[in-house]
Amino acid sequence: MAFNTSEVDKNLVRLEYDNGVAWVILNRPEKRNALSPALSLRMLEIFDEVEADDRCGVMVLTGEGTAFSAGMDIKEYFRDMKDQPRSVNLKVRRLNYEWQWRRLRYFMKPTIAMVNGWCFGGAFLPVVSCDLAIAAEEAKFGLSEVNWGILPAGNVSRAVAETMRTRDGLYYVMTGELFDGRKAAEMGLVNEAVPQEKLRERVRELADILLEKSPAVLKAAKDAFKRVQELDWDMSEEYLITKQEQLWFLAGEEREEGIKQFLDDKTYKPGLGMYKRPSKE
Ligand code: COA
Repeated sequence: MAFNTSEVDKNLVRLEYDNGVAWVILNRPEKRNALSPALSLRMLEIFDEVEADDRCGVMVLTGEGTAFSAGMDIKEYFRDMKDQPRSVNLKVRRLNYEWQWRRLRYFMKPTIAMVNGWCFGGAFLPVVSCDLAIAAEEAKFGLSEVNWGILPAGNVSRAVAETMRTRDGLYYVMTGELFDGRKAAEMGLVNEAVPQEKLRERVRELADILLEKSPAVLKAAKDAFKRVQELDWDMSEEYLITKQEQLWFLAGEEREEGIKQFLDDKTYKPGLGMYKRPSKE
């Protein structure tokens, strides 16, 4: 297989900006958006661009056609790689984990996975790495690895263990049975499921809520929530104090403004909504 890391195929993933949202659309519908080595390169290129572009306040990850993603490209990652040197095998896998986990989990902007259809195996990882996930009720999920002789690796099992209850996770890891968007929401794999025709509208609505908040505060809050899960209580307390102090330097005026509008101006109540950010006027 010729895997050329110097050329990025821009068609594999589309990027569209729309009023503060960067829509990142996996674009191999003829292969059900299976995740290939070349697609990893394009994702990393898009991430570099989107993180630095002010047109993006929220990034949404979704798929073109009937699939969110059919998971790892079985041909390109498994069959074609069999005869490749170990160095190539390691390289393509690292690229894959790089975008699906390291970059996406701690992305600079808030992220939403919009699961529009088929979602299998390796595709669970980017769904879980996104901060939030909304699925179509009709979307179909499957940990299909067991059906073709592998286990959910590439940290898919870790992602499942983090979001789903143990009994549910083991059930689907071991049976490979399909479940729909409603069930995914009930089990905690996604935040909620809505009818397919309402999916984009609901994701847009959620993105608009996030766009009202301070980007610096959101980044600190989501990172803190994710990081403390891996720390003990003492380390967690230390981390959160440090993070809070860091935020004071990065976005102290946000807090001052929020406090002022509540205590002095009496123009809003923090329990009921967001203060008016000066930059949004
Ligand atoms: N890897 C490689 N190719 C894949 C793929 C995958 N994960 N998923 C789909 N494709 C390819 C098919 O081989 C087919 O290619 P072809 O047109 O050259 O024959 C094309 O995409 C369309 O797939 P098809 O199976 O005809 O579509 P479908 O709509 O009837 O079924 C799925 C969709 C997703 C149910 C089915 O393709 C499937 O089971 N895919 C594999 C899912 C999986 O186990 N993924 C691995 C998880 S790690």
